[in-house]
Amino acid sequence: VRGAVADPERIVICDGFTQGLTLVCRALHARGARRIAVEDPCCRAHREIIRHNGLEAVPVAVDEDGIRVEELARHSVSAVVVSPAHQFPTGYLLSPQRRAQLLEWASRTGALVIEYDYDAQYRYDGPPVGALQGLAPATVVYAGTASKILAPGLRVGWLVVPAAMTDAVIRHKVCDDLGSNLPTQLTLARFIERGDLDRHLRRLRRSYRARRDALITALRRHLPGARVQGIAAGLHALALLPEQMNEARLCEQARGRGVSVYGLGRYRANPRSGAPGLVLGYASLAEAKIKRGIQELAQACPSPA
Ligand SMILES: Cc1ncc(COP(=O)(O)O)c(C=O)c1O
Repeated sequence: VRGAVADPERIVICDGFTQGLTLVCRALHARGARRIAVEDPCCRAHREIIRHNGLEAVPVAVDEDGIRVEELARHSVSAVVVSPAHQFPTGYLLSPQRRAQLLEWASRTGALVIEYDYDAQYRYDGPPVGALQGLAPATVVYAGTASKILAPGLRVGWLVVPAAMTDAVIRHKVCDDLGSNLPTQLTLARFIERGDLDRHLRRLRRSYRARRDALITALRRHLPGARVQGIAAGLHALALLPEQMNEARLCEQARGRGVSVYGLGRYRANPRSGAPGLVLGYASLAEAKIKRGIQELAQACPSPA
């Protein structure tokens, strides 16, 4: 479905992307890597996992076309972690030109691209966007997770690893835990074979699209100054706020009103840099709650945003 080149010999089932990234970091470290680039902003866990495995996480800015490859090329790194289909947390899509640039950089430098394809199954507008790995399976590690399509507690993820690295990644997996829980894997395999996963995703896509639409409508109405980004796909949206707004204070006041939102700064390498914004997860909330939540958020704003 994702257009990945997924030879079974190259697939490593792991305990979520968290373990998948850990295994790749260890394999890279063992062959001498010391620095891995990450998108800025990005999921904080990625930076922590990279550091925890003895590597330096090098932040590279993201703009509306995705990671800035020209900036990436100025660093000496052995790999980069990207989420091309829906960058977290900005929601930007890696543009066709940047995709080509990124793969050209990887093939020129011998660096590895780690493609974190976490929520690409949820694309509401426009045609599906294929995985980068399908274009360069020798250069890209493809990584997926059941956490966003079924449940994070399942702890199931998958890597498709380039041939030159497969043995090393498997060795780290075996030393870690001998292999992921088999009954869980067999249950998931049955769920997929019977067509249940496809049915589940079709239902979720409809439901999440309605929730996303409710979020956009409520934001337009109650927070017209917010610039909403990254809404074509996924489980969350980014609302960029006017420059003068204090993101941290707004999050705190919203929490006081029972609305849990995170500021964009939480995901940046330097939390105090860049424009203020809010990361709004909508997928687990009924439409009425989304509307109420945004109304509360607007009340928490010190001045019209
Ligand atoms: C946005 C986001 N959510 C959740 C996770 C955890 O993923 P998993 O449950 O597959 O380990 C990650 C990965 O680090 C992530 O980037």
